[in-house]
Formats: sequence, C-alpha cells, structure tokens
Amino acid sequence: MNANLIATESTEPLYLQIADRLARCIRSGTLARGERMASVRELARQQGVSQSTVVQAYHWLEDARLITARPRSGYFVASRPSELPEPRQSRPGVQSRQVAMGELGREVLGLAMQQDMISFGAACPGPEMFDQERVRRTLNRAVQRHRDLLCAYPLGAGRVEARRAVARHALNLGCSLHADDVVMTNGCMESITLCLKAVTQPGDVVALESPTYFGFLEILQSLHLRALEIPTHPRHGISVDALQLALETQEVKAVLVVPTLSNPLGACMPLPERKRLAQLVAAHDIALIEDVIYNDLAEQDDKRRAVKSYDTSGHVMLCGSFNKTLAPGLRLGWVEAGRWGAVLRKIKDVQSGAQTAVLEIALAELLSQAGNEAALRQLRATVAARVDEARGLIAQSFPKGTRVTDPAGGYILWVELPGGLDAVALYEACLQENICIAPGQLFSTSPRFRSFVRLGVGGRWGDEHPAALRRIGAIAQLMLDETKLATAA
Ligand SMILES: Cc1ncc(COP(=O)(O)O)c(C=O)c1O
Repeated sequence: MNANLIATESTEPLYLQIADRLARCIRSGTLARGERMASVRELARQQGVSQSTVVQAYHWLEDARLITARPRSGYFVASRPSELPEPRQSRPGVQSRQVAMGELGREVLGLAMQQDMISFGAACPGPEMFDQERVRRTLNRAVQRHRDLLCAYPLGAGRVEARRAVARHALNLGCSLHADDVVMTNGCMESITLCLKAVTQPGDVVALESPTYFGFLEILQSLHLRALEIPTHPRHGISVDALQLALETQEVKAVLVVPTLSNPLGACMPLPERKRLAQLVAAHDIALIEDVIYNDLAEQDDKRRAVKSYDTSGHVMLCGSFNKTLAPGLRLGWVEAGRWGAVLRKIKDVQSGAQTAVLEIALAELLSQAGNEAALRQLRATVAARVDEARGLIAQSFPKGTRVTDPAGGYILWVELPGGLDAVALYEACLQENICIAPGQLFSTSPRFRSFVRLGVGGRWGDEHPAALRRIGAIAQLMLDETKLATAA
C-alpha cells in the first residue's frame, strides 16, 4: 500500500481519513478478501503518522467488519461479502411535491408483524433481540415502588428521572442537553410530528432524503406539507451541496434527516458534512429536525455523533426513542427542540399530555444500568452477523445486476433489482408464499424507486428466513425471464 491515504485539505481526524480510504479499497476489491494488511509499523512509516493513529484506523476497520486481527499474524481483509455493487446516489427532481401515500405502507407494516409471515417488511428488531428479562424486572420494580403513580394524572414534559437519563444518553451523541429542555414523547414519530407542527404551516415545503422513511411522508401528508426530496448517497447520506442549492433557490421551512443509518439506505453522513449541515440551517434560519433513532446501532463511535453536537444557535431539533434499541413495548421517545422548545411544549400538552409515569421511571433505570451498554453491543453484533448472512444470500441468489447497500450498522438493506423489475409485483408474488418485503415505491413521492425493495433482517430469524431470501431472488429471476420472453414474442 504505497498510496497516500491522507488528504491535505481534509479536516477529518487522520485515523478516520486512513480508515475511510482503506475501507474504499476493501469495498472496491482493490484489497482482496483474505489479503494481509500492511503492518502497523509499516503503514505508519509510509503515511508519516504515529503507530497509534494506524492502530485507531485498524480498530475502526475492525468495528466495520472489514478487517480481522489474527493473533501474532497481523490484520487481514475480512471475508464479508462485498462483491455486490451498491445503488447509485439518487437524483430526484428539483420541485417539491404534494404527498399522496396510499394504504400500501400500513398494509406492509400490518403484514410484516403477522406471526405466520416470513417477514423482511419491518424496520424493527424482533422481541428476542432485546434483553426481555432485564426490561421485565425493571418495570416490575418501578411499578412496585411507584404504585401511587398509576392513579395520578401525569402532567408536563415527563418525569425528571427520564429527562435526565435522556440528557446523559445524549452525551454518547456528542450533545450536552439540559434535562429541563427535554420533552418525553410516546415515540420518535410523535417527536417529529411535534417539531413539524412547531415550525411549519400547511402548504410549506420540507426537505428530506431520497429515498426516505415512508412514515415521514405519511406525517407530511397528514400535516398538508410538501416534500422536497434531496439527492442522497447510499453511504454518505444527504448531499449537503444539493440541499444548499435547494435552500438558495426556493423557500424551505424545515429539513428532516436521519444522519446515522438512515431508513432505508443505512447511510451515515461524514462528520464534516454534519458540521456543514448545522451551519447551513443556521445561515438560512430554518429548522433541522434530526432523527437519531438508529445512532446507537452504528458500528463505530464517530458515526454516532449527532449534527446537534455542532449546533450553536438552537436550529437543530433532536428527536429520538428507545423503540429500536431497548424495548419497543415501552413506546417512549424524546425531543429537544432547540429554539422552538416552548412552542413545542405547548403543542405537546394540548395534543397528548404526558406519558405513563412508571414507564418513564423504568426507562430511566434501564438506561442507567451497567447491562445497557452490554445489551447494545450484543444487539449490534447479532444484527451485523445477520446483515452479512443476508448480503451473502443476495449475492448468491438474486438476479445478476442486483445492487445492495452495505450499511455501517443496523439491519436494513436497500436492494436495487435489475431490468426495471416492478417491486410491487414482486411484493405481491412473495406474499403468495407468505414472505413479506417492503416495495421501494413507498419511500418516495415519485415512482423513482419502483425497482427497489427494502429488506429488514432484524426480526425473527429461523431456518426459513435464509431459504425465503433465496426464494425472493428466484421469484425476481422468474419475473425477469417472463418479461424477457414477453418482449421477445
Ligand atoms: C427513521 C425512523 N424514525 C422513526 C421511526 C419510528 O419511531 P418510533 O417507533 O419511536 O415512533 C422509524 C421506524 O421505522 C424509523 O425508521
């Protein structure tokens, strides 16, 4: 490895620059599977950096499962399947659009949760992925100790114990929040809805990633807001350049993004882009609604840092929940709304009041337990192995020309099918065999993603799931063959 891995103009830490360049070489196959990496000493000498910088870069690559350490032999390129190309950056139109979502999103979610379904349709880990016993014990204890609260009316922004626990949790995101500014909600979607209500009026334009989570589009539709989709890269997330151009040429009231492990791309914005984004919204004096629901699932620490950590003017409204990482059944979320805190609090009071107090107390305790970090690490490792297995199966059994993302954490894969294959037709064909997937049409206001599917692999996982993934590939191949025959006839 003689190439220079450090860009003179970059403001990123040296170890990240080295890690990022090496990651690209591994993903593109320049560094092949099983190949020995340069020794720490060798690479440090070549790049003119300290050995500890190289060790940090190698640890980052290890966390990303791109290299593995072999005792007394050094580091080797891991055998993670990487031969599938990734989808290209999206190119949505420059006009905002009215949102007209049908019933398909709700149908997919309903079917995805059915017990008899082999499901890849939901973006939530299955119950067995959580530490159920710890949650049950903690909740029981909270009810025993605070039974009086069950019959008292909860008011205000939520229990102070929970708001403090959220503020402590936000330190992992690089943010120092004050518990007084945190409002507890009944999930991230409520947090986002409240933020949008605080900063927009019907008819306003909201910029978001393309593709984006269909739940966001449903919220926009219910509030009569227009969607402006911004080009988004499958690994680096929303294009800040394209967003800047949009903000300079049309009136946008808010930006809604998931900078870490976006849904469905699984993209993570690089740190300098996060900083630019915070500066951009401040310069335009508009709100950035930042969804950090998946940050704890990112494989590397630096990817967990929130855009909010760069916010010096209160323009970032931070929204999170513990429904993907701790206990979806508690249905608790939170929001810190920056300069719109007082407005948001009023809307929340009127809209839905406070949450169940004992649940908030249990949440605060769960977050402060030593076992919490260990449970998160376990969850990250389990879903990482799943994603590897699923990508391997897709490489083997989906039609030639298929593209798939390689997310740096989480359990969502975004798959582009070749030959203009219609994902809704594939969804319907799969349902005939009790297999549920989410068709790409759901994730945009336009039919741009009609040949994409989202596969969630964090749910229940038995022997039937790998077989079902192969079957989806076979059905897609059959549909392609039929189309070819029909066109030839
Ligand atoms: C990006 C994103 N935000 C929010 C949610 C839902 O959050 P909650 O269940 O906390 O309301 C989802 C669910 O899939 C999601 O993907």
